[in-house]
Amino acid sequence: MREGGRLADERTLSATGGRELERVVYTPEEISDRVAEMGRAISEHYPPDEDLLVLGLLKGSFIFLADLVRCISRPVHVDFLVVSSYGLGTTSSGEVKTLYDPSTPLEGRNVVLVEDIIDSGTTVNELVPSLRSRDLGSLEMCALLHKRVADDLALDPRWVGFDAPEDFLVGYGLDHAEDFRHLPFIASI
Ligand code: IMP
Ligand code: MG
Repeated sequence: MREGGRLADERTLSATGGRELERVVYTPEEISDRVAEMGRAISEHYPPDEDLLVLGLLKGSFIFLADLVRCISRPVHVDFLVVSSYGLGTTSSGEVKTLYDPSTPLEGRNVVLVEDIIDSGTTVNELVPSLRSRDLGSLEMCALLHKRVADDLALDPRWVGFDAPEDFLVGYGLDHAEDFRHLPFIASI
């Protein structure tokens, strides 16, 4: 799928409704190998008798989170946060709205915030102070992709899947105007 420039094979065109993507950036195999490594690293980081809560940032992290928690080999609880920052465009609106906040108490808990991608850092910089104000036991972040363009992150992710190119990426949970989340690979558009 990597060869031949634009992604125009039949299966992809059928999945995208005929729209061509630029190129595959991460294949399903590359993603699953890396996610397994991240799951192992998270499992090893926390003492086995301590509580662990994985907080997925929806919607973008839903596929990553589902794969990641299945690679965590210790007890873990899962909850979600829903924020929205991009609207329908491909650049950050700079405005982060919290649409759903976890119902579980967070006080005293080891929390791993799971992000699909860190771009400008706006989302992280909005969320982290409000999470910290809730007296967590600890807070770490796990991001599948990091564009490494944000210079003042409120929290550096302890676990990063890939240093991503600055292109706009879709697939494996990432969307453009809600399209392409279901693609099993990550592509640029
Ligand atoms: P930030 O607030 O600019 O760091 O962007 C974080 C959020 O924007 C992510 O959780 C994504 O939902 C979205 N985002 C950033 N870059 C991309 C991209 O390349 N493709 C799709 N969504 C993106
Ligand atoms: Mg999005």
